[in-house]
Amino acid sequence: MSGRLQDKIAIITGAGRGIGAATARAFAGAGAVVVIAERDKDTGSAMAAELAELGARSLFLETDVADIRAAEAAAQAALAAFGRIDVLVNNAGINVFHEPLETTEAEWKRCFAVDLEGVWHMCKAVLPAMLSQGGGSIVNIASSHSTTIIPDTFPYPVAKHGLLGLTRALGIQYAARGVRVNAVSPGYIETDLARDYWNTFPDPVAEKQKVYDLHPPRRIGRPEEVAMTALFLASDEAPFINATSIAIDGGRSVLYHD
Ligand code: NAI
Repeated sequence: MSGRLQDKIAIITGAGRGIGAATARAFAGAGAVVVIAERDKDTGSAMAAELAELGARSLFLETDVADIRAAEAAAQAALAAFGRIDVLVNNAGINVFHEPLETTEAEWKRCFAVDLEGVWHMCKAVLPAMLSQGGGSIVNIASSHSTTIIPDTFPYPVAKHGLLGLTRALGIQYAARGVRVNAVSPGYIETDLARDYWNTFPDPVAEKQKVYDLHPPRRIGRPEEVAMTALFLASDEAPFINATSIAIDGGRSVLYHD
């Protein structure tokens, strides 16, 4: 049987856990060969072992996307192993949340190094191969913070707004050469990060319910729901979708608040 990403070579950054791990599982299930570009050796190799157990082909490359040479080395290693790169999912990202004037230079740089420059490093590393093959699909994991601002989350939304700009610029630049560049913008997603945060409150269950109630479906998103959308955009089912972003937030960004 042929999968929706059958035999496509897909690099997924930060695939060791959370949304990246869900994306790796979904892509492998759809027939892709998954290259796990993850900076955490333990989670990255555990994910490769998990995919191997499912009978999927995969490769773990210890990669810090903030380092341009490491990004280039990952792309070269994927090409050496599989001969082409069809898909890049730029998922690796970090939360850096501060009051603007209390943001140190180091924190500003740490945020941009991963959330924006890391994406550019990976795009720059894979685009020559995609262009010489005659096509490819890049999916950037942006955020609700790419279009809205929550006070005291600085500078994360600045980097995530920039990520949409990068998506649009590259999508337009290379469209005529078969490369599509899109983003997904998840809202609140139930990952370990969210659960750990709720557990810092005296009543974690009440805190979780409060967050659920902010969303029209009275729940938050699941990593698998982000993965499904990334899979669609990466696949040949979305050939005319380019330079745009799909919100995955249960409609929260549309809901009117007074
Ligand atoms: P997470 O923290 O659970 O996983 C991130 C993964 O990326 C980890 O495995 C980490 O080791 C890896 N990583 C971090 N920096 C890296 C680097 N420099 N090089 C390579 N790998 C690196 O995060 P989560 O929640 O799964 O988020 C994934 C993406 O989704 C991020 O870009 C985040 O901004 C975005 N996002 C998450 C939302 C959420 O509610 N969880 C909502 C909206 C966007």
